[in-house]
Amino acid sequence: TVSRQVKEVCSSLVLSDSMLEHVMGLMHDEICKGLSKETNGCADVKCFPTYVRNIPNGSERGKFLALDLGGTNFRVLLIELGGSQKNKMLSKIFAVPQSVMLGSGNSLFDHIADCLAVFMKEHGVQLERLPLGFTFSFPCRQEGLTKGRLVRWTKGFKCGGVEGEDVVRLLQAAIRRRGDVDIDVLAVLNDTTGTLMSCAHKNPECRVGIIIGTGTNACYLERLQNVGLWDGDFEEPQQVIINTEWGNFGRSGCLDDILTEYDREIDEKSLNPGEQVFEKMISGMYMGELARLVIAKLVKKGLLFRGQGSDILYKKGSFYTKYISEIESDKLGEYYNCREVLEELCLGLISDQDCQDIRYICEVVSTRAAQLAAAGVACLLNKMNEKKVVVGVDGSVYRFHPHFHNLMTESIEKLVSSDIKFELMLSEDGSGRGAALVAAVASRKS
Ligand code: BG6
Ligand code: GLC
Repeated sequence: TVSRQVKEVCSSLVLSDSMLEHVMGLMHDEICKGLSKETNGCADVKCFPTYVRNIPNGSERGKFLALDLGGTNFRVLLIELGGSQKNKMLSKIFAVPQSVMLGSGNSLFDHIADCLAVFMKEHGVQLERLPLGFTFSFPCRQEGLTKGRLVRWTKGFKCGGVEGEDVVRLLQAAIRRRGDVDIDVLAVLNDTTGTLMSCAHKNPECRVGIIIGTGTNACYLERLQNVGLWDGDFEEPQQVIINTEWGNFGRSGCLDDILTEYDREIDEKSLNPGEQVFEKMISGMYMGELARLVIAKLVKKGLLFRGQGSDILYKKGSFYTKYISEIESDKLGEYYNCREVLEELCLGLISDQDCQDIRYICEVVSTRAAQLAAAGVACLLNKMNEKKVVVGVDGSVYRFHPHFHNLMTESIEKLVSSDIKFELMLSEDGSGRGAALVAAVASRKS
């Protein structure tokens, strides 16, 4: 059994059902605040209208380029949508060095344009002017399908001179600076929108898209009559995808009651202190570090590894989020992956009790993340109040953690009205295909 003292140190990370219901209620208030023109200014959850009004209907065809920036990988894609036939997709991952992630906006967009040009040449399309969908996974206030101003950087990016600017214009300017390739940007979108679109293409009941990866966020299909912010026309269909940017939930303090000393430390040492409070409790960029802080505290108290830590263990960022998935993938009672991870951290003399306690810490951190994300999803489902909704999900945490799907499903079941049916569906080929679909739907003459 897990030792009593370890449980005690972890207790602040354990949320009760009533706490989760409370969080769900707060999220509901925040979303309503975000949707209304009068209160959006002071809302933490901004609920940006995406200008995507149509869900794919299967008739989308054509050859598209897509850029996917903001997740673990930066990708350039070439996608051929073939209606009922199978879609073709070629893609390449390019590295974005940390110096670029933290450098100037111009060097970031020059780098993107550079990768795009390399890719177009490799596939012999450098002389074509192809339509492009740009998945840019940061909070953007959109002014149309092809115009989105970055509000502020999140996750690991902080490039000067981009906040407040239209990222499509910056991309086009960088491409023009090169002069060797040309493209036609048909849409800029968030990864949640890409996920929703790409799942909706397979399952028309998909109405919500969420990401639990490096960051976390959700989008959903909302009726125009509920979107006070809407400044477009009211033609059919009277609906629009809302990018909630729920990662910033808690910004003004409404989650302070459930924050722990570990959350506060993560926040203080982050690139964006005070912001993205909900995201920092859930997503992959922070989850491993949360576990590390708990482990480090227990070692210092002499409650793990007989009080013997290691230099690596005490270094920020050394406990990767993937370790949590690996440790929780061990069969119950076995500690094969756990020992391997602890050896990587140069910890010696590990007892079975240590392993049991480490696994417990990982479970507490990942369960809290899954339950908080579930509170967000349940809030959207209750708000939408449709009989059956499929939720498209992407992101490394959801994809690779062995229990995340089940933890979330269980927790949503407890929180959602009993007459609502739902299903969490893993998005299969990322938001690259979603970007092509948004571009295709945009170019569809209806
Ligand atoms: C990918 C999508 O599959 O998942 C990206 O194509 C998205 O658009 C990403 O940003 C999110 O997950 P992660 O773990 O890479 O941040
Ligand atoms: C961050 C971004 C958001 C994105 C999410 C998942 O929260 O602000 O736009 O959707 O990460 O990648």
